[in-house]
Amino acid sequence: MIDPFGRHITYLRLSVTDRCDFRCQYCMAENMQFLPKSDVLSLEELEILCTAFIANGVKKIRLTGGEPLVRKNMMSLIDNLGQYVKDNIIEELTLTTNGSQLAKYASGLYEAGVRRINVSVDTLDEAKFRHITRWGNLDQVLHGIRAAQDAGLAIKINMVALKGINDDEIGQMLDWCVRNQMDLTLIETMPLGEIDVNRHEQYLSLQQVREQLADSWELAESDYRTGGPARYYSVGSSGRKLGMITPMSHNFCDSCNRIRVTCTGQLFMCLGHEDNIDLREVLRNHQGDRQAVEQAIISAISKKPERHYFTIDPEHNRPTLQRHMSMTGG
Ligand code: GTP
Ligand code: 5AD
Ligand code: SF4
Repeated sequence: MIDPFGRHITYLRLSVTDRCDFRCQYCMAENMQFLPKSDVLSLEELEILCTAFIANGVKKIRLTGGEPLVRKNMMSLIDNLGQYVKDNIIEELTLTTNGSQLAKYASGLYEAGVRRINVSVDTLDEAKFRHITRWGNLDQVLHGIRAAQDAGLAIKINMVALKGINDDEIGQMLDWCVRNQMDLTLIETMPLGEIDVNRHEQYLSLQQVREQLADSWELAESDYRTGGPARYYSVGSSGRKLGMITPMSHNFCDSCNRIRVTCTGQLFMCLGHEDNIDLREVLRNHQGDRQAVEQAIISAISKKPERHYFTIDPEHNRPTLQRHMSMTGG
């Protein structure tokens, strides 16, 4: 699949649920209205969609949420998709998770063919963690991370940089990651959906953070790539990488290789646009006919926008995009 700007689309981000056991302040409002179950695609339907994307050149599938591991019977979908990795049909099956369920699922993930995962940890301070996630338990997440490492999974920590909240612990987080053989990716917060906090107050540019980190760490630009939006730096001689995802301060859309599908089967060609194609309708109106789905996908790719725009409507002081991050899983 090649879009109108010559970009090869090989990375599918599939949100398997809009639900989550946490309520990170930058991601969700405290009181979220979740989707009724009938709106959400079954695991079988999600798998049909994946096979349609794979048949059209997708090589990497990332399961997201909400929190992917809170979806019931999730391991059956992961086991089935893992077979595509084992058969060398796709290169990678992976997840972005909040880590709360990892202790339970880590070894199953490894057996299914998953080799690395991204875990969101925005702070190592227990009280702050509870504050950011609203009621998350840091110990449970740390326990999950250890279980994942014991199972053989490589881990990248995702930390959303939040001014006045965790900006004082970025160096400490990098140090913790290096000591525990994990890579770290810092992420600029994006204004998606109304939350209970002022987005302007939370935003922190990573350009500034990198300059500050360079006082204590030897950071050298690296050509290491994971096929995601991060640009990487090697961290001294530790062998670890520091990634920076800068949707706000430094656009990376010219190398975009991604599309995302929500748990209701809407195909979003870009995180920063509302345009989408309803694959659920195609799937359900054509009794699961994969060819009809494939045609819809190919037609959608021909409409992929050139770049994202994240803006805040000055009149109402709210993001122009009303969809929360938990709908599209990032
Ligand atoms: P790797 O495969 O390890 O590179 O992971 P990834 O960065 O692709 O995935 P992850 O789910 O860890 O996402 C990290 C952050 O990148 C999240 O905040 C996502 O919202 C953001 N992100 C991923 N793709 C895009 C994109 O195309 N546009 C924008 N603006 N943000 C993205
Ligand atoms: N801006 C940037 N990153 C976000 N995430 C969730 N909401 C936002 C936001 N508004 C991150 C999560 C997770 C990844 C999928 O996206 O922390 O690591
Ligand atoms: Fe849940 Fe992840 Fe959103 Fe936090 S950022 S509320 S863990 S989906």
